[in-house]
Amino acid sequence: MPTTKRTNKTKQNPQQTSQNPKHLAQKLTQNSLDSALSKASKNLILSIESSCDDSSLALTDIDTYALIYHRKISQERAHNVYGGVVPEIASRLHCESLPLVLADMKAFLSSGGEISRESDSCESDLRDENPFGAIRAIAITTQPGLSVSLLQGLMMAKTLCVSLNVPIISVNHLIGHFYSLFIGKSYATMPMSVLLVSGGHTQILEANRADEFVVVASSKDDSFGECFDKVAKMLNLGYPGGSIIEQYAKKYKKITKAKEVNSKNGLNQSDDLCDLSPLPLPLKSNKELAFSFSGLKNATRLLIQSFLDSHASGVKSDIKSSARTKPKSSLDFASNHTSSTASNFASSPARTLDRESILSEREIAHICASFQEAAISHICDKLTRYFVQKLEKNQPVQTLGIVGGASANLTLRSAILGICERYGAELILAPLEFCSDNAAMIGRAGIEEYLAGNFSDTRSLEISPRNECPHLKI
Ligand code: KG4
Ligand code: ZN
Repeated sequence: MPTTKRTNKTKQNPQQTSQNPKHLAQKLTQNSLDSALSKASKNLILSIESSCDDSSLALTDIDTYALIYHRKISQERAHNVYGGVVPEIASRLHCESLPLVLADMKAFLSSGGEISRESDSCESDLRDENPFGAIRAIAITTQPGLSVSLLQGLMMAKTLCVSLNVPIISVNHLIGHFYSLFIGKSYATMPMSVLLVSGGHTQILEANRADEFVVVASSKDDSFGECFDKVAKMLNLGYPGGSIIEQYAKKYKKITKAKEVNSKNGLNQSDDLCDLSPLPLPLKSNKELAFSFSGLKNATRLLIQSFLDSHASGVKSDIKSSARTKPKSSLDFASNHTSSTASNFASSPARTLDRESILSEREIAHICASFQEAAISHICDKLTRYFVQKLEKNQPVQTLGIVGGASANLTLRSAILGICERYGAELILAPLEFCSDNAAMIGRAGIEEYLAGNFSDTRSLEISPRNECPHLKI
């Protein structure tokens, strides 16, 4: 069956979605799908995502594209203490969580009367003895990702395919992220340009057709999200670092504003922390589109070190004197971060830096804001180059989407909105709840493959930890 594609002309405000981008760690999360329930039909795709640290399942209606069910169990809390994902733990937790979500989905389908009340045609399918009777295919993320995590999902997918006698659909995770822009929608805008910013990737992609995605730029080293995670780890703020750093950067803005007001009113002197520390922009004079974050990560490390050194040498400012003064000069020591203010940002800390007794909340906020500013400037610098190159080729970017976990960053969203406005391009954003890994986007991508008849052999389908998708040209 051919796929229908239309152009999405709706411009979105980066602030439009107000949900907290943080996952509800170790909790089942159910999207508000009440409206979708009544639209259930008898043709569903069951999708599974387990490429990293989220165990997620979804049901998508093949006929209407409606998302019928979506839940995930995040493992953030389990990895938080290590400041990053531990593959062995991730794998074990998928083994525990995927069946839990499946049982929940089964209960959901078993109460099919609720689902199909308005749809006589599907009542028998959803209410009959087999609660999975409406499932026509299983879509599974097979690449890229952590092999031990991918395998858990694939194992479940194959088992379901064999027992339900339905075909398996292999989905590339990055293409899945692209479809997070079109969950519940019967169209996908193509061609369009996409900025993918996640924990594993930083790329500019061109989505030409459902079976042709071209990577036009990627990171030479760390990814955008990964760099946030690593800076958060250096500061002992917990994992994942993205939203924590964003919150600190926001806090910095607030403190700075208040300081400026006080200073204007002669109540207080403004200090050196009012200005962000300038961090070197990666590949600034390089005309290449490629991204790089390792240098910025190192520059941030040095910035942290400079604060530690100034404490060690007893330098005091009005801010620094408010910091607890336990001198240390190396980042390689271990302890817990227990500051009550910071605990608003990180529930359970990583153990790499005993900076809680050295750096004040304001210094941490200053470092986070300086880093975030530089990281976003780098993205904007390269993205602007891309827009200019396209313009020079007489192929101006008309539509840009931002996807991936880090696309939940509101400062990034509004900076990119500025670029799109400057170049007359439309910006498409995924709802915050679908920026991070989820099975809903895999189900949406799975529909395209289902309609194109792209099924894999259940027995021989394997995971590929690297990108090896025929639809993705690197
Ligand atoms: O797409 P995703 O859930 O997983 C991968 O495919 O990697 O992305 C997770 C990444 C993590 O590195 C996380 O720190 C980052 O997205 N992230 C953010 C924000 N929220 C999540 N980075 C920056 N700002 C955020 N608000
Ligand atoms: Zn992802």
